[in-house]
Amino acid sequence: MNNFDLKNKFAIITGGAQGFGLDISKRFIKSGCKVRIWDIDETELLKASKEINSDKLSYDVVDVSNFTQVKNTVDKIAENSKIDILVNSAGITGPTSELWNYKIEDWSKIMEINLNGIFYCCKAVVPYMIKNNYGRIVNIASVSGKDGNANASAYSSSKAGVIGLTKSLGKELALNNIAVNAVTPAGANTRILNQMSKEHVQRMLSKVPKGRFLEVHELTSMVCWLSSEENSFSTAAVFDISGGRSTY
Ligand SMILES: NC(=O)c1ccc[n+]([C@@H]2O[C@H](COP(=O)([O-])OP(=O)(O)OC[C@H]3O[C@@H](n4cnc5c(N)ncnc54)[C@H](O)[C@@H]3O)[C@@H](O)[C@H]2O)c1
Repeated sequence: MNNFDLKNKFAIITGGAQGFGLDISKRFIKSGCKVRIWDIDETELLKASKEINSDKLSYDVVDVSNFTQVKNTVDKIAENSKIDILVNSAGITGPTSELWNYKIEDWSKIMEINLNGIFYCCKAVVPYMIKNNYGRIVNIASVSGKDGNANASAYSSSKAGVIGLTKSLGKELALNNIAVNAVTPAGANTRILNQMSKEHVQRMLSKVPKGRFLEVHELTSMVCWLSSEENSFSTAAVFDISGGRSTY
């Protein structure tokens, strides 16, 4: 495994108590980064903190869909630290169902967490990055935001929105040494899959030419490079990691 240099950097990783966010947090810490995990699930946060057991790790219970909470937490962190990196990994899939049967409250909740949550986190963090003239933001979108998945219109739309947000914000910040990129993973075997029906997960897998799930550490490697100083030119871009599923 390659080493990444994240020494003297400070990262906020949302949804960091489990899945992609947890693995990214572990690798960031190994790379010398101080990491602040945010998650809505306090039990999982405590578990993650015990498992990682490092003085480079701290955490906050934050609901990314609550802008006041997000802003207050960012402002408090910024009193004592610069914020170099923001990885937006918090997300839910919501139920699998045809659009015309989709409950309006399910649709709204998915948008509020997956899309508005990233807007809120970026809105709160970016002014500090601008002051520092440095930042790396990585948004975890999904291949479904490019291709669309049947019975996942809310999820797919929210992730397409994340791609649009990334492309716009990246352009706004291109002269500030702040890179904003999105990654579009195919299915990986994390707890989020439990939110969908088995048939839906099987259908997702059947579309991947590589014929297997993405391994969490494979996504982590890509996020590490995008979050490092070495990524000095790529911004407002979407990095595919779909095992050959996406054709663009
Ligand atoms: N696993 C996959 O197959 C897959 C594929 C493509 C994209 N993604 C995306 O990757 C990201 C991470 O997913 P994962 O697979 O690690 O899932 P996961 O369920 O393992 O982790 C998601 C974390 O987000 C947290 N979270 C949920 N709502 C939150 C909120 N309102 N505020 C703060 N934290 C909240 C959860 O508690 C959980 O710890 C998500 O955005 C997901 O949509 C996942």
